[in-house]
Amino acid sequence: MQSLGKESEAIIKKDQRYLWHNITPYSEQSPPMIAASASGSWVTDIDGNKYLDGMSGLWCVNVGYGRKELAEAAYNQLLSLPYFPLTQSHMPAIALAEKLNEWLEGEYVIFFSNSGSEANEAAFKIVRQYHQQTGQHYRSKFIARYRGYHGSSLGALSATGQAQRKYKYEPLAAGFLHVAPPDSYRRPEGMTVEAFNLQCAQAVEETIIWEGAETVAAVIMEPVITGGGVIVPEQVYLDRVQEICRNYGVLLIMDEVICGFGRSGRKFGHQNFGIKPDIVTMAKGLTSAYLPLSATAVRKDIYEAFKDNSDGYGHFRHVNTFGGNPAACALALRNLEVLEQEQLVERAAILGQRLHSGLSGLLGHKLVGDIRSFGLIAGIELVADKGSKQPADLDIVKGIIAECKAKGLIIGKNGDTVAGFNNVLTLAPPLSSTDEDIQFIIDTVTAVLNGGWGA
Ligand SMILES: Cc1ncc(COP(=O)(O)O)c(C=O)c1O
Repeated sequence: MQSLGKESEAIIKKDQRYLWHNITPYSEQSPPMIAASASGSWVTDIDGNKYLDGMSGLWCVNVGYGRKELAEAAYNQLLSLPYFPLTQSHMPAIALAEKLNEWLEGEYVIFFSNSGSEANEAAFKIVRQYHQQTGQHYRSKFIARYRGYHGSSLGALSATGQAQRKYKYEPLAAGFLHVAPPDSYRRPEGMTVEAFNLQCAQAVEETIIWEGAETVAAVIMEPVITGGGVIVPEQVYLDRVQEICRNYGVLLIMDEVICGFGRSGRKFGHQNFGIKPDIVTMAKGLTSAYLPLSATAVRKDIYEAFKDNSDGYGHFRHVNTFGGNPAACALALRNLEVLEQEQLVERAAILGQRLHSGLSGLLGHKLVGDIRSFGLIAGIELVADKGSKQPADLDIVKGIIAECKAKGLIIGKNGDTVAGFNNVLTLAPPLSSTDEDIQFIIDTVTAVLNGGWGA
């Protein structure tokens, strides 16, 4: 890596003086990487160093960097109509909502916001109001999973099952409950993966019964827990959760903020399991993060319950100024076209398999307890001891990430989640990555791990 010149030192000083970074502790010694430009899967910093972005930013630049067609779609829309509130309507929002229905393979009505957190907040309010308006006045509680993340705002953080993200911000919103996720790697000895997954699904039913089914409004989950450590369920788990929700009149919200838009090898993550959620929340890959936009897709018949406004409170009294911005919608539409035209959803499945098999040789490494993947997402769980499965120290996890970066590869980890369990290296490169990009990831991670870690 090139050393810092005087100019970049001055920029870093200004960064440290003026910028408050997301979730990253302040450190004078290790200043942030300051990106200057990017193309494809590669990002260049202000010193001219190039890195393969093995995390697509924050799991979001699905079509890769430097897409002129996306910039043009936004530019043209900004010239013709830069803004109009969705209290009324505009063409890009209508077209995108129609397109999302096609992608969802169901009948949904779309509410636009700006971020994944907001999409989930909207879902929670819609669910509570829906139950009120259909005479189920006590249904207010939400069940989520430990280790899952659903956002940073108070409601979405309440749904989040990561204690370390909550410390010092509690008390949060009331009415959010958590159950254990199907972490098959850590299942009881002697139990089959299938039996363990069923047992985890059963925890959802028990919680519903113990709370009183008439008080439970919805279950929220990602199809696969991503940022919480790449925890992949078996088919039986999601089948059973869906069945339980239906049996007890509890709505099922799928948080597709990361798994959506081809990341899983299907258009949406839940489509891999053939389930039909009542509500789907999405953000990140919707615009490949070129502009902020998120959406809450609500089953049409749920939306119908909002049509009777005879008491003056029947409509959804929720507004956000920027949600569904015309330029963001036009860009999102173009983003979906790119995903379709270049068959990037299918490519994600192929690259994901290649990445998984390329990394699988590492299973013999002393530190590697498990390797899990879902489409073009991979998680490498590092342990101090394979017998006890004791998680590896955070210093080791951080050291491996730093060495990958020194070799030009950005990888991630499940950071600040659950105490002691921030031990999963994560990979989610752009869906447009070349074969060489994927090989570079495999070679670099392998070389770093085999370069003395765990020796
Ligand atoms: C699964 C999931 N849901 C919701 C969110 C929140 O999205 P945002 O950061 O856009 O508010 C995230 C963000 O990482 C996420 O991973």
